[in-house]
Amino acid sequence: MAARILHVETGKPDPAAITAAAQILNDGGLVIFPTETVYGLGAAALKPDSVRAIFRAKGRPAGNPVIVHVPDHRAAATLAAAWPESARNLAERFWPGALTLVLPRTRVIPDAVTAGGSTVGIRVPAHPVARALLVEFGAPIAAPSANPSNRVSATDARHLDPVLLERVDLVLDAGPTPGGIESTVLDLTTAPPRVLRPGLISLQSLRTIVPDAVYAAGEQHHSGDTLPSPGMLPRHYAPLAKLELLPPRGAAERIEALLGGGLHVGWMALAPAVVSFLPANLTVVEMPFDPTLCAQRLFGALHELDAAGVAVIVAELPPDAPAWHAIRDRLRRAATPAPG
Ligand code: TXA
Ligand code: MG
Repeated sequence: MAARILHVETGKPDPAAITAAAQILNDGGLVIFPTETVYGLGAAALKPDSVRAIFRAKGRPAGNPVIVHVPDHRAAATLAAAWPESARNLAERFWPGALTLVLPRTRVIPDAVTAGGSTVGIRVPAHPVARALLVEFGAPIAAPSANPSNRVSATDARHLDPVLLERVDLVLDAGPTPGGIESTVLDLTTAPPRVLRPGLISLQSLRTIVPDAVYAAGEQHHSGDTLPSPGMLPRHYAPLAKLELLPPRGAAERIEALLGGGLHVGWMALAPAVVSFLPANLTVVEMPFDPTLCAQRLFGALHELDAAGVAVIVAELPPDAPAWHAIRDRLRRAATPAPG
């Protein structure tokens, strides 16, 4: 069964499309919908069978919890066993928006959502289509990014995986998502609070509300444990092509060597790309030298290079500066070789 695709206007989503999507969620089905970060693969969060269908569709390991989306902070607070002052202040400052707060769960949340863990990740999205769907459905929506497990997230409905689409009932297609990379995941159950996944909202801006927040990156995980945030696994966001991450100065030489070996090469250049001539087996994507614009383009560029059939992607590593942190994180994981 292929998913039905309904085009919706971001600013003014057609109520009939939203009603159809809410009905599917109500019936236990799966709906792909846009958020301001990436597309989400949604199911009714309080129906364990529906949530399990998300895991099946994505091929997601059962140990990786999913984020619960709600329309406002009041709905969020009913899902958490504690709602500390930091949560209240962060919600006030950053919601609706690209921040996921990890808090102690209540028993309202099924184990399927939390992967059996004692916490739940909650977010109030800002995208008008996501908001309209949450209001119409009237209950929390569990939604990971709408991509097969470990692959590149979709920031445009055109980039949704065809196999995934076979397993989904409906897509609300509102074109490209404005943010480009996923929400920042902040764990408020520890002192100090830890950023489990860098995202659109920087650590610097979180620290205006929670000054002691830190990155959790670099922690050791033991296989079999419930991971603090399985999105932290080294290999993630993987394109089909092998991705090599190089400092801009080393890129040209490496590309020449790969082309010399007869390979079709994709070059993710931090603009402007300077090429004296363009060989037939080189595909160039210019990435804007601006973290916000680069984030918007990032996953789309990886999808385009895969679609062009390149064997290797050479990506230039952005500067080691706070504003580029989340993009460097995504690129590093995309470049991590598959185990085995
Ligand atoms: O921007 C986003 O966050 C998108 C849109 C659709 O909302 N969603 C998203 O979901 O990126 P997903 O499942 O692809 O990534 C969620 C991340 C994963 O790394 C997951 O392990 C972590 O958040 N996470 C979710 N619940 C958690 C929890 N209770 N404790 C720790 N980490 C959690
Ligand atoms: Mg994801």
